[in-house]
Amino acid sequence: MLTPGFDLGKVSVFMVKDSLSPASIANNLETCFIGQRIIYYPTLASTMEVARQEAQMGAVEGTVILADEQTAGRGRLKRVWLSPKGSIALSVILYPDVAYLPSLIMLASLAVVHSIEAITGLKSQIKWPNDVLVNGKKVCGILVESEVQGNSVDYAIVGIGINVNIRLSHFPDIVSTATSLSDELGRDVSRLDVIRHLLVEMERLYLTLPAGGSVYEEWRDRIVTLGKRVQISSGKTRYDGIAESAARDGSLLLRLSDGGLIKIVAGDVTLRD
Ligand code: ATP
Ligand code: BTN
Repeated sequence: MLTPGFDLGKVSVFMVKDSLSPASIANNLETCFIGQRIIYYPTLASTMEVARQEAQMGAVEGTVILADEQTAGRGRLKRVWLSPKGSIALSVILYPDVAYLPSLIMLASLAVVHSIEAITGLKSQIKWPNDVLVNGKKVCGILVESEVQGNSVDYAIVGIGINVNIRLSHFPDIVSTATSLSDELGRDVSRLDVIRHLLVEMERLYLTLPAGGSVYEEWRDRIVTLGKRVQISSGKTRYDGIAESAARDGSLLLRLSDGGLIKIVAGDVTLRD
C-alpha cells in the first residue's frame, strides 16, 4: 500500500505504509479462522510465550499473536532470534489432528515462500529443517511447538519471523548469513501485504491436509538442501553425507559415505553446508 510521501523537486517519493494494526490486517481478510482474531503488541519478549498462554486458555483456532518488535525472540534449540522493528514476528495457534503435526513446518515454509514471491517477486528456497532463504541467505525462521498427550494434540503454535524492512548491516552478528526483503530489493516492502498473504496461504494449505493435498511434495521439491553435501551435528555426534531426500514425517534422509542411509529428525540437530 503506497501513500504520498514528500516531494524532492520533480521526483515524488512514495513511502510504504506499514502500520500493523489488527484492524488493518483483518479487514476483509479472506480466511475463515486464521487471523480472524489478532492480538497485537508493539513490543513483546516473544510471541511464542503469549501464544502458549492463550492456547492453554483455549484461544479460538487461528488466533495470531503479533509483535512489532521482540526483545527475546527465540529460534530452535533456544537460539536467539533477532526481530527488531521492521521485521514480522507472529505466532499462530492451531489445534490439528496429531497426524498433521509434521505438516505444519511444511505448510508454514510454503506459505512464506509463496508470500515472498507474490508480494516481492523474489525467488526463495527452503533450507531444511526450518529456514527460508533468498539468494542463499536466511530471510525467515520458523518454529513449531506443540503440547501433545498421547495421540491428542492440546495445541500447536507456528512461530514465523521474517526479515522484511531491516538493514542487515546494523546486525553484524548475522550479516554474513542473513538477509531481508528490503536489502534484496533496495526498497521497503509492505509488512501488511506480506502478513495478509501469509495468513491466507497458511489457512489454504492447512485446509488441504485432510484431503491429502500436495503440501509434502511441494515442500520436498523446494528444499535447496537436497543433493548437497552437509554436516549434521546432534549433541556430540556428527554425520557427513549427501542430503538425499526428505520424508513425509519431516525428517532428512542422509546418504553416508559408506553407502548407508540414515534418517535425521529435525528436533535437536544443526545443519551446515
Ligand atoms: P540450522 O541450519 O541447523 O537450522 P541455524 O544457524 O539456521 O542452523 P536456527 O536455529 O535455524 O539455526 O536459527 C537460529 C539462528 O539464526 C541464530 O543462532 C542466529 O545465528 C540466526 N538469526 C538470529 N536472528 C536472525 C534473523 N533475524 N535473521 C536471520 N538469522 C537470524
Ligand atoms: C529459527 O530459525 O530457529 C526459528 C526462528 C523463529 C522466530 C519466530 S519470530 C515469531 C516467533 N517468536 C519467537 O520468539 N520465535 C518465533
